[in-house]
Amino acid sequence: MRLENRVAIVTGGGYGIGRAYSEGLAREGAKVVIADINDEGSMATQHAITSAGGEALAVHTDVSDQASTEAMAKAAIDRFGRIDILVNNAAYFATLPLQDFDEMDVATWDRVMAVNLKGPFLCCKAVVPQMRRQKYGKIVNISSSSILPGNPKRIHYVTSKAGIIGFSRSMARALGDDNICVNSVMPGSTASEGTIIAYGQEFFDRAVASKPLKRVQKPEDLVGTIIFLSSSDSDFITGAAINVDGGVYPY
Ligand SMILES: NC(=O)c1ccc[n+]([C@@H]2O[C@H](COP(=O)([O-])OP(=O)(O)OC[C@H]3O[C@@H](n4cnc5c(N)ncnc54)[C@H](O)[C@@H]3O)[C@@H](O)[C@H]2O)c1
Repeated sequence: MRLENRVAIVTGGGYGIGRAYSEGLAREGAKVVIADINDEGSMATQHAITSAGGEALAVHTDVSDQASTEAMAKAAIDRFGRIDILVNNAAYFATLPLQDFDEMDVATWDRVMAVNLKGPFLCCKAVVPQMRRQKYGKIVNISSSSILPGNPKRIHYVTSKAGIIGFSRSMARALGDDNICVNSVMPGSTASEGTIIAYGQEFFDRAVASKPLKRVQKPEDLVGTIIFLSSSDSDFITGAAINVDGGVYPY
């Protein structure tokens, strides 16, 4: 129980990889605020955590909306009294259509940036005052290993996830004096609920042969790294980016 008495917010924590983070943090003893626009997923995740004896609170949150992120932080403090961990996992991702550069429209570009880059900024703005009061905090921003090779069909998405690394490094410098650590995790191509619907299981099976670790990456493969960066085991690590992709793109 490395996270006993800790309070964690997981954005997009009701579905897909985010749900695995919410449940994994709860298993380590954290009280988890599930901040998602997907209410059905959030309620199901809250139920799974509380049924297993943990504590969780589902809070409808749109990370691209400042008032919504402020309400998220307030709900966490009102219910649990503090905020120790923020996992910025929510993204416009699995439902994002694959598009060539010439087809890519400005509205989609703006929405990707609003959720994937402005979202983590707004969530940090909402939780940092409380973390400062505590002189303690752990912020984990979810990037993507796709920033290493790039992807011509997801130029907006890859750009937003590359931005997460610069955001994290700059925030690490901004918040070090407050003993708040800011790191990023770069997941490899992961068979989540959403990506299995979007690409099919065969897409993941086909990719196995070219990996050093020859199996499909699952959401659970990311949970240990999130717990490590959320716990005091990583108290002297900030500004780092950890690539968790089975060795596909050494970083
Ligand atoms: N699955 C992969 O292959 C992979 C690879 C690299 C990085 N990632 C990253 O991991 C994270 C999770 O991936 P996933 O496969 O579960 O993605 P997903 O698209 O299936 O799930 C995204 C989650 O974010 C939530 N969300 C979307 N917009 C939101 C908003 N405005 N406010 C609050 N919540 C919102 C969704 O409801 C959902 O719970 C994302 O940041 C993604 O970019 C995934």
